[in-house]
Amino acid sequence: MKKTILVTGGTGYIGSHTVVELIEAGYEVVIVDNLYNSSKAVLKRIEKITGVLPKFYEVDILDGPALNQVFEENHLDAVIHFAGYKAVGESVSKPLTYYQNNIAGSLNLYETMLKHQVYNLVFSSSATVYGDPASVPICEDFPLGPTTNPYGTSKLYNEQILRDVCKAYPEFSVVLLRYFNPIGAHQSGLIGEVPNGIPNNLLPYIAQVAIGKREYLSVFGNDYDTVDGTGVRDYIHVVDLALGHIKAIEYAFDHHGVEAVNLGTGHGYSVLQVKDAFAKACGKEVAFKLVDRRPGDIAECYADTTKAKEVLGWSAQYDIDTMCQDSWRFQSMNPDGIND
Ligand code: NAD
Ligand code: UFG
Repeated sequence: MKKTILVTGGTGYIGSHTVVELIEAGYEVVIVDNLYNSSKAVLKRIEKITGVLPKFYEVDILDGPALNQVFEENHLDAVIHFAGYKAVGESVSKPLTYYQNNIAGSLNLYETMLKHQVYNLVFSSSATVYGDPASVPICEDFPLGPTTNPYGTSKLYNEQILRDVCKAYPEFSVVLLRYFNPIGAHQSGLIGEVPNGIPNNLLPYIAQVAIGKREYLSVFGNDYDTVDGTGVRDYIHVVDLALGHIKAIEYAFDHHGVEAVNLGTGHGYSVLQVKDAFAKACGKEVAFKLVDRRPGDIAECYADTTKAKEVLGWSAQYDIDTMCQDSWRFQSMNPDGIND
């Protein structure tokens, strides 16, 4: 019998790509999303890619009774938990909003799982839990924190909460996936990242400069101790990331306890290198200006990927050129986002 996976935040950027891969791997999918940062039109796009329209509930994970109803109506085998707020800067100005959604919402979900004896969970964590790492590449056993913003702290707290849950309930199986920098889009160009307002992240910003929506890219700092002075990150194709979730779910079904795993490529690229790769992909120059460092940024961040390979049998396949090509295809096919 097909296993059924509940995907919270399943119409969002990483969620939608994961839903596609889950369907293609033979799983039934149930999506819960309150559409705060995504559109219902994503569901039709998923159907176009896979031939399957996933079951969808427009439900807020903070709404206990509604969430309970979803568990009542479906026989769920596991949960992949993406739902949450993710804007680092906004989390500094609205900490309570972030803790409410990312902590209280998650607690609600974990309580409901326990009540319905659904014990397998994959949680969207982030490389931000490592704070400013003492060295790179970053291994999973590096010290965690201190985090530099409430968003990052909400991820760290969720990790700790889930460790405690696994201690108290040995039947629980949790994989904490620490994402590095997800970029790119499905190669169909039908789903991808739709930033809300002015993009905070590098790739969506570059894509909007390339399409003419923004004048130039501000490069935040060129005096870091890196290859060209600009910040270095481990950019990972969102489809690779999605495939990592399939491996993580399979792992969760076969194990108990909690495991934290980095999802990255193991390679770092500087801001200027990414800008150049994108220019190659879209066939035009990307205008930029060098400006001051962005507060809270670190110089370099990339993953040690050994554990992902050993524990999950997963490693990233797509290179930076493919990431930029796919990102550009999505941007040019959907200049106004996903609306139909
Ligand atoms: P996203 O905003 O595209 O997707 C999140 C989805 O959750 C959205 O569709 C939103 O409507 C939904 N949502 C938010 N609050 C909800 C609530 N209370 N109830 C129901 N649905 C709710 O973000 P994404 O980039 O796909 O990120 C997914 C997860 O991965 C998030 O938890 C994020 O923190 C984490 N993450 C993202 C990145 C990144 O760079 N994109 C990096 C590390 C970790
Ligand atoms: N950058 C610019 N100009 C921009 C945007 C970004 O120069 O307009 C630079 C940043 O200074 C940094 C790099 O591009 O050097 C990447 O910045 P992003 O904002 O795209 O990503 P971050 O690494 O800062 O943060 C991301 C997610 C966080 C997550 C973290 C670690 O936004 O949620 O990766 O996984 F916590």
